[in-house]
Amino acid sequence: MREGLLQGKKGIIFGALNEKSIAWQVALKTWQQGAELVLTNSPVAVRMGTINDLAKLTGSKVITADATKMDEIDNLLSESMTVFGGKFDFILHAIGMSPNVRKDIPYEQTSYDNMLKTLDISALSFHRILQTAYKLDALKEWGSVVALSYVAAQRTLTGYNDMGDAKALLESIARSFGYIYGRDKKVRINTVSQSPTATTAGSGIHGFDSLIDFAERMSPLGNASAEECADYCVALFSDLTRKVTMQNLFHDGGFSSMGMSLRAIEQYKKSFDECDCDEK
Ligand SMILES: NC(=O)c1ccc[n+]([C@@H]2O[C@H](COP(=O)([O-])OP(=O)(O)OC[C@H]3O[C@@H](n4cnc5c(N)ncnc54)[C@H](O)[C@@H]3O)[C@@H](O)[C@H]2O)c1
Repeated sequence: MREGLLQGKKGIIFGALNEKSIAWQVALKTWQQGAELVLTNSPVAVRMGTINDLAKLTGSKVITADATKMDEIDNLLSESMTVFGGKFDFILHAIGMSPNVRKDIPYEQTSYDNMLKTLDISALSFHRILQTAYKLDALKEWGSVVALSYVAAQRTLTGYNDMGDAKALLESIARSFGYIYGRDKKVRINTVSQSPTATTAGSGIHGFDSLIDFAERMSPLGNASAEECADYCVALFSDLTRKVTMQNLFHDGGFSSMGMSLRAIEQYKKSFDECDCDEK
């Protein structure tokens, strides 16, 4: 049912690869709330994934763009303005990839070529999109831009590798551009720091199953799902959050404010009791 919190709004959703993608859920929920969408992903992801099914379901146009290529971003935003008949209201950046994570190269032995690619794809792409939108004056006043982040921007989590550095940069770009875009065009820019979520990108992280279990035990409200993240994004794209900008907003069931929880310590104690190790 199309309920209407985003009735009349138009936006671009980056990063829907398949139905596990957080961006997929954001596209569905924003569409259900009345928004008109353009969906985009890299050419290879459009070929390998199922974004065209999502486009059919939501009546959206798919425009391919590699988020590391300025000309492709420029073309995407210009074409989207033609599709929408002018300026539009919101953008979701849900792009992340680390060749170091993919190739299982540990942080302390990083390949700098790979690291540059991680930063380029996962963080500088956000600057590129914002710079292009600003240049084309593509977003309406009180427009809203959201990028998805993770708590590894602030705290070290084993296995997250150079994606922690990329997320720190992503959050900083939201603040730096948020000032300029807010001052000049009244556009708000925020990052949402989401719980670990079982998606294609998420599952690539070393020890992901244990990480998701640990976060679930540590979070008083439990991990936030992709659908719940999409609900939060709807709120941030709506007119109900017009003065929220330059923030990193935790959407993680309380994980980021915890030190140790009863559920986590009980699990730790159980493993310790069952362990045949010298430290006991
Ligand atoms: N899954 C998690 O645990 C989790 C937690 C917090 C934040 N996030 C963030 O959420 C966002 C979405 O990831 P997801 O978990 O839904 O996984 P996903 O694999 O479904 O999405 C990642 C997307 O990035 C796209 N991408 C990669 N390189 C690209 C390029 N050069 N140009 C354009 N697009 C490109 C992929 O095609 C894919 O659609 C990412 O920024 C990720 O870091 C994920």
